[in-house]
Order: sequence, then C-alpha cells, then structure tokens
Amino acid sequence: MKRLFLIGALIPCCVAFPQERDYRDELTARFPFYQTARTVFAPVYPALARQLVQDYGISKGVAVDLGGADGSLAIELAKITDLKIYSVDIDPAAVRLCHMIVDRNQLTGRVLAVEADAADLPLRDGLADLVVSRNSLFQWPDLMAGLREAYRILKPGGVAYMGGGFSRLLEPGELRRLIEWSEDKLRRKPDSMLAMPKDLAARLSAEGMTQVRIIEGPSRFDWWLEMRKPEADAGPELSAPNAANAPGQ
Ligand SMILES: C[S@@+](CC[C@H](N)C(=O)[O-])C[C@H]1O[C@@H](n2cnc3c(N)ncnc32)[C@H](O)[C@@H]1O
Repeated sequence: MKRLFLIGALIPCCVAFPQERDYRDELTARFPFYQTARTVFAPVYPALARQLVQDYGISKGVAVDLGGADGSLAIELAKITDLKIYSVDIDPAAVRLCHMIVDRNQLTGRVLAVEADAADLPLRDGLADLVVSRNSLFQWPDLMAGLREAYRILKPGGVAYMGGGFSRLLEPGELRRLIEWSEDKLRRKPDSMLAMPKDLAARLSAEGMTQVRIIEGPSRFDWWLEMRKPEADAGPELSAPNAANAPGQ
C-alpha cells in the first residue's frame, strides 16, 4: 500500500520535471548569457554580494539590481541578507529564467524579477536602500537616462554601486582566471570592453548627483560608479510620472 502511494506521488514529479527542464532549455537558448553566468562568472556573484554587505552594511530594506539577468547576484545577496531585491532586466527570457531559479532557491517573494528598461523603471521614487548593476550599463543605449533612474529610485541615504568587473573578495586564482578569460574575449572581440566615460562624474554632478566616486580595479575590466543620495535629498525634480502605480508602493 505504502509502495503504491509512493509510486502515485512520484508520477506527477516525473511528468513535471521534464517539462520544467524543457522550458528552462528553451529560455537558455533565448538567453545564452545564462551559461556564462552559471560557469565562468559563477564565483563572482557570492564574492560581490559579500563585498557589498561588507562595504555598505545594508542588510535589510530594498535592493534593486539593474540588468540582473537570471538573478545570480540578487540571489546571492538575498541568501546573506534580509533584503527584498528587485532583479530588473529588459530581456523577457532572462526575467522568466530568474523566476524559475528564484523558486528553485526557495527565495520566492524575496527576489522579484521585473521586466523593464533601466532607463524607465516601474519602481517608485526613493524605494531602494541599495541599487546595484554589474556588466549591464555598457549595453544601455542611454547611460545617463539609466543613471538618473537609479538615482531617482534611491532612498535618501541610499547608495548605488554600478559598473563592471569582478570583486576584490575573489580568490586570487579565480580573479586571474577571470582576467585571462576577459583578455581572451577582448582579443576575439576588440569592441567588447567599454571604457568609462571620462566626464561621467562631471555629467552627474551637473545634474545634481554630486556624491559620486569612481572606483577602479582590481583588474582593468573593473570600473565602478558609487553614487550616494544625501539624506535630505528626495530628488523631486527626478520623479517618474507613473510612480504611483509602481511595484513596491
Ligand atoms: C552581460 S549581462 C550581465 C548580467 C548580470 N548583471 C551579471 O552580472 O551576470 C547584461 C544584462 O543587462 C541586460 N540589459 C541590457 N540592456 C538593458 C536595459 N536597457 N535595461 C535593463 N537591462 C538591460 C541584458 O538583458 C543582460 O541580461
């Protein structure tokens, strides 16, 4: 009787899992970066998550990852904090993958995958204690529009850490391997490394985003923009017209 019950319980799983696998395969075919995130870059996300917690001490409230893809960084951040994290990506396949992976990690409700353009976020003003973005802003057609949005959704007193590269908390061997991989990619695709605009801090400052710091290293592939929103600055001039209907209200 017990055995019959067990077989009965297993049948739906056997039917459901192949379907889930097929769906994941379909999504990864549509979003090939997933394979890179799972393999080459896999050690970066836990190291970067630890670095963010170490540097900014933000472990509760709301974080937003812009260009969060399959949620690799958001998930690692959720595992070591009590943050609620919106992983925003413009690619629908990445957002669907993120939903699946978040569920598999039992982080449903803690990491929320949102399909949106970084330059037009469906998130309210002052929502986020922390905004992060890794290796995505190079792909944004209008960098300043995305940075303005990041600043708008920052809470007064909040901080944004956005840019590209790895983490200083990586094991030296891992970092070396990632640098070699990136150098090799650069040889094959010389236009794949996008330089930091030299006048970035000045351009941000001209728009009232004055507490800005550029952080370079530990490799030539790393440059990061740290942007803080002063406590008293609610940034009303940067309000989004549709913010009233946004998630996180
Ligand atoms: C190279 S992947 C990096 C993903 C992830 N941040 C990571 O570190 O693994 C760049 C991601 O940025 C997303 N992206 C590109 N342009 C975007 C935009 N305008 N708004 C939101 N996401 C964007 C892409 O769809 C892709 O998932």
